[in-house]
Amino acid sequence: MDFAAQFQAYRQRAEQGLDRLVPSGTTRPARLHEAMRYALLGGGKRLRPVLTLATADLYAARYDPLPAAVAIECIHTYSLVHDDLPCMDNDDLRRGRPTTHRQFDEATALLAGDALLTLAFQLIARHYAGHPVWASALTGVIADAAGSERLIGGQMEDLLAEKKADATAGELEFIHLNKTAAMIEVALVAGGLCGGATDTQLTALRATGRHLGLAFQIVDDILDATADTATLGKTAGKDAKAGKTTYVKLHGLDASRKFARQQSDAALAALRSLPGDKAFLTALIDSMAGRVN
Ligand code: IPE
Ligand code: IPE
Ligand code: MG
Ligand code: MG
Ligand code: MG
Repeated sequence: MDFAAQFQAYRQRAEQGLDRLVPSGTTRPARLHEAMRYALLGGGKRLRPVLTLATADLYAARYDPLPAAVAIECIHTYSLVHDDLPCMDNDDLRRGRPTTHRQFDEATALLAGDALLTLAFQLIARHYAGHPVWASALTGVIADAAGSERLIGGQMEDLLAEKKADATAGELEFIHLNKTAAMIEVALVAGGLCGGATDTQLTALRATGRHLGLAFQIVDDILDATADTATLGKTAGKDAKAGKTTYVKLHGLDASRKFARQQSDAALAALRSLPGDKAFLTALIDSMAGRVN
């Protein structure tokens, strides 16, 4: 199977898992569950669940990675629903459709985000109940990635750095490593845990995710400045308008492209020590910087 077909196969597995593991739209309160499903099921590249599934496939996986992959996509999607709210980035378009608060209303979007975050941990508790010690480790790494020192911390500093004239490269790196790389790191680590990776291998997976995550957010910054709204499925040019501290603002387009390539290469180098057939993950990481070159 070539890379595109394999990506599509992983993506489909993730989408089927999402559809199956998230309460139906008629579950009471229907409006809430409709909003959760609207946010989750209307598109998205599914990078994080694909990473979890593909990493588990480096091993003869001991535990089914699908609930973990779905949980991680639920957390990612909640972060997007909240990121788009008027009090944060104030976006009208996401995944090619009106944002959840535009389609429903702000309170419903807020609650749908809350519920998606909670659902992630419900899924882990429910699906891995037979392996409590292992499930506790998985819960721990996902909660750490989504918590106040990582994803939320990055989002906080992203907002604090808006319109800041003297933001430093160090502050920018903190934002990107946490608001974005944390969840990409844990997508790989969760796959490794499902496969029974050793501590050394988990460290390599974490490094791969850290570099891939940085590359991914640098690319997101570049695309915000260079691509059009129809291609992105979200409003282009918003970062400059909001005065966001981005790689493009601090370093310019050319240097940002170079940084993205360097980080992708570092991700590939970290991946090399891992066992199994790494062709798919290698191609996936390689395709990242290619989005802007
Ligand atoms: C968007 O993530 C937010 C960032 C961390 C850059 P994605 O670009 O993965 O968004 P979807 O899931 O494909 O919509
Ligand atoms: C968002 O970063 C990262 C999240 C944790 C949601 P951005 O604000 O750059 O993401 P987009 O560009 O709206 O997708
Ligand atoms: Mg944002
Ligand atoms: Mg945003
Ligand atoms: Mg962005």
